[in-house]
Amino acid sequence: MSRNVLVTGGAGFIGANFVPYFCGKYHDYRVINLDKLTYAGNLDNLKECENLSNYAFVQGDICDEVLVSEIFEKYKITDVIHFAAESHVDNSIANPRAFIETNVLGTFALLEVFRKKHGDSQQNRFHHISTDEVYGTLGESGYFTEKTAYAPNSPYSASKAGSDMLVRAYFHTYGMNIVTSNCSNNYGPKQHREKLMPTIIRHALAEEPIPIYGDGKNVRDWLYVMDHCKAVDLIFHEGKSGETYNVGGRNERNNLEIAQKICEILDEKYPRKSRNYSELIAFVTDRPGHDRRYAIDMTKLETELGWKAEENFDSGIVKTVEWYLAISVN
Ligand SMILES: NC(=O)c1ccc[n+]([C@@H]2O[C@H](COP(=O)([O-])OP(=O)(O)OC[C@H]3O[C@@H](n4cnc5c(N)ncnc54)[C@H](O)[C@@H]3O)[C@@H](O)[C@H]2O)c1
Repeated sequence: MSRNVLVTGGAGFIGANFVPYFCGKYHDYRVINLDKLTYAGNLDNLKECENLSNYAFVQGDICDEVLVSEIFEKYKITDVIHFAAESHVDNSIANPRAFIETNVLGTFALLEVFRKKHGDSQQNRFHHISTDEVYGTLGESGYFTEKTAYAPNSPYSASKAGSDMLVRAYFHTYGMNIVTSNCSNNYGPKQHREKLMPTIIRHALAEEPIPIYGDGKNVRDWLYVMDHCKAVDLIFHEGKSGETYNVGGRNERNNLEIAQKICEILDEKYPRKSRNYSELIAFVTDRPGHDRRYAIDMTKLETELGWKAEENFDSGIVKTVEWYLAISVN
């Protein structure tokens, strides 16, 4: 069945990996990418889509309900896959307002337009993309499941938790056909330079200290971005309305391990003169409220929908470093 899917935030890191994959796989779907092009959006990452007949780009703000409504009319939007967000925790500490506006009020605007247009139709789906950060922090053991109570600790995770609650309420109150996915840390090509892996690579190549927060022992579960995109595809099509699905990589690594691994790969692919890159690693004052450990239990996604990550961490991180090397040194 042909569909007109509004993808929000398609010019960001995950969106710019998702949109070409989705347009290439579903030729009878049309993707309308609504993106404000904040500092985090980059159309250069979507060049491969520019001439596709099943792709259209609209620059605009998801908070603008009139614009979103016009897009629904003009493109006869059937479904929404909602990636757009302010996404960087450090920025949320310095400037929380933009996070509340885009992540909470922007999600609200999309839900309102969707509700007015499609009501409780089960033929039209709203897929909300969220994060494992809504669950707060873990000690040495345990995992986040879909039943873990929300306990967000940063303005970013609080704003995502707020949007998840609105989405949940629209399912229960209005019977809308909604799914939410909560994913762990993504890595891969096209990520903004401010995030951990691009920062490590950028500082290493510039021969500058590689900043690592605190003692470097904060643990994240890393998932290759294309595996997340495929999980979104599966959940969008097969997920049960009203449900949430955790997505993770079963790749727990602390920040220091990530930095050391990237340095090892750079030592091999782009050696420094007589020194190892790891000598550049420098510990800096920890981020306020820095969550210690995130780890995802994605048994539900695996057993109910049959999802499995395809990329293993060792090959995924090599591909990632190669991509940043190619854009940095060529
Ligand atoms: N990156 C991760 O590791 C990760 C993990 C789990 C969940 N998520 C979630 O996935 C989604 C995408 O994350 P990302 O890493 O690609 O983010 P990103 O910051 O790289 O991209 C966000 C995109 O949204 C756009 N945008 C921001 N505000 C907007 C607005 N008001 N209207 C329209 N567009 C707007 C930006 O221009 C940008 O293109 C987010 O919802 C994030 O919370 C990310």
